[in-house]
Amino acid sequence: SLELIKKLEETIENVPDFPIPGIQFKDICPIFLQPKLYEEVIADLADFSRGKIDAVCGIESRGYLFGIAIAVALDVPFVLIRKAGKLPPPFVGEKYDLEYGSAEIEMKTGHLKPGQRILIHDDLLATGGTTEAAAKLVAKQGAIPAQFSFLIDLEALKGKERLQKFDAEVYSILQY
Ligand code: PRP
Ligand code: MG
Repeated sequence: SLELIKKLEETIENVPDFPIPGIQFKDICPIFLQPKLYEEVIADLADFSRGKIDAVCGIESRGYLFGIAIAVALDVPFVLIRKAGKLPPPFVGEKYDLEYGSAEIEMKTGHLKPGQRILIHDDLLATGGTTEAAAKLVAKQGAIPAQFSFLIDLEALKGKERLQKFDAEVYSILQY
C-alpha cells in the first residue's frame, strides 16, 4: 500500500558511498526497530504469494530476515539458500559472476520437491545475479521458480530484465 511505501521510505536509511564510492547503500536495519512495521512488511509480501506457491527459498543472509516469516505466514516450508561452504552434504550448488570474480550459492538436496512452485525471496534486487543463480538452483532440482519478491528493486541496474527468462511474477515493495 502507499502508506506502507511511505513508512518504509522514511525508515530505510540511504548511505552514500558505502561499501564503495558511488554506491547508495540501503540500510534496512531500522525496520527491525519497529515490530509493527515489520509485521506490515511480512503481511504485504505474504499477500503477494498467498495461494500461489508451495515453498519459499530465501537467500543468505538478508533474504532470511523476511523470507522465513513469509513462509510461516503462508504455512509453507522454508528452504535456505546459503553462500558456499556452509552446508553439510548432500547439497547442490550454482556459480555466478560478480562485477569482480565469482560467487557460489548452495542448497540442501531433496528439500525442494520436483514440481513445487517456489517463491524466491531476497531483500534487494540489484543486478539480479544472485537471484538468477538462486532460480537456476531451484530449477536444477525440478522445482519451478514461480515468483520473486523483494523489499527493494534498484531499477537502474535492470535486475528484473535478467529474471524475465523464468517467466515468473516479480514483486518489489519499493523501487529506487
Ligand atoms: C546483497 C543483497 C542481495 C544481493 C543483490 O547481498 O542482499 O542478496 O546483494 O545483488 P545482485 O542483485 O547484484 O546479485 P550481499 O551479497 O551483500 O549479502 P548479505 O545479504 O549477506 O548482506
Ligand atoms: Mg543478500
